[in-house]
Amino acid sequence: MRVVRTRQELIQARAGLPVAGPVGFVPTMGALHAGHRALLESASADCDAVLVSIFVNPLQFGPNEDIDRYPRALDEDLAACRAAGSTVVFAPSVAEMYPTGPPRTAVDPGPLGAELEGQVRPEHFRGVLTIVARLLQLARPDAAYFGEKDYQQLVLIRQMVDELDMGVRIIGCPTVREPGGLALSSRNRYLSAPERERAGSLIRALRAGVAAGPGGAEAVLNAARGCLTDLEVDYLTLRAPDLGPAPERGPARLLVAARVGTTRLIDNIPVLLGEA
Ligand code: PAJ
Repeated sequence: MRVVRTRQELIQARAGLPVAGPVGFVPTMGALHAGHRALLESASADCDAVLVSIFVNPLQFGPNEDIDRYPRALDEDLAACRAAGSTVVFAPSVAEMYPTGPPRTAVDPGPLGAELEGQVRPEHFRGVLTIVARLLQLARPDAAYFGEKDYQQLVLIRQMVDELDMGVRIIGCPTVREPGGLALSSRNRYLSAPERERAGSLIRALRAGVAAGPGGAEAVLNAARGCLTDLEVDYLTLRAPDLGPAPERGPARLLVAARVGTTRLIDNIPVLLGEA
């Protein structure tokens, strides 16, 4: 496994890959957990070579979000990448990615970028799409892997790749959870034991929503809402799989964001609406 620090080195490493088969790419911000590892393993299973990026992207953090508090663990991350069979890890500095400060050119996520997570984090998806576009440009993969955990991010990346003809396959991977159902997230480390207990109602709410699916949208939302009494809910919403308005029946997505103490958590689940 090669570790590269500059864009030039990544371009050269990509060009020199001795493979004929597909090249996979897994962008991350490091502090890798089993959710990230599942992406690395899917990419390794599908592809002849896997490129990974580890970069805490300042452009996607808001003024009230403390980027310096974001966990960093490069040595452990490199070990996890190596164990998953990755080929190249790109771990640039902020100065390498933004040598002249914030870029003037950015990718506009459109209306969906201002909804749900975008309501609380107005510049977030602009920052995400801009860095992902650049990383795809540098890594030139055949397929790129993203978690359903960040469902809105996944949908917006698909939208960008489709509408800007970026020619890369976007693979969505299921959310990896703790045994109790809490979705793995680098933010979980900020939860105290009682907060972790309360955070469990997120997945209980989503599962109650799934069980109420045959009764339709109202039933799903009521069932889910009933489980969310112990948290500060930012949103609980039922949408179409592409995050447009929910259909009357058929596949839909139930999404929730809530604060547990000072930690903000998000989760989502597929729901089938109406009688089968
Ligand atoms: P990060 O939060 O490090 O997540 C990297 C990838 O891991 C994302 O695709 C995310 O959805 C996925 N992931 C996180 N937790 C997961 C879980 N429990 N199960 C499955 N997948 C999970 O998302 C980002 O970084 C950044 O926004 C990035 C795309 C790298 C751009 O900076």
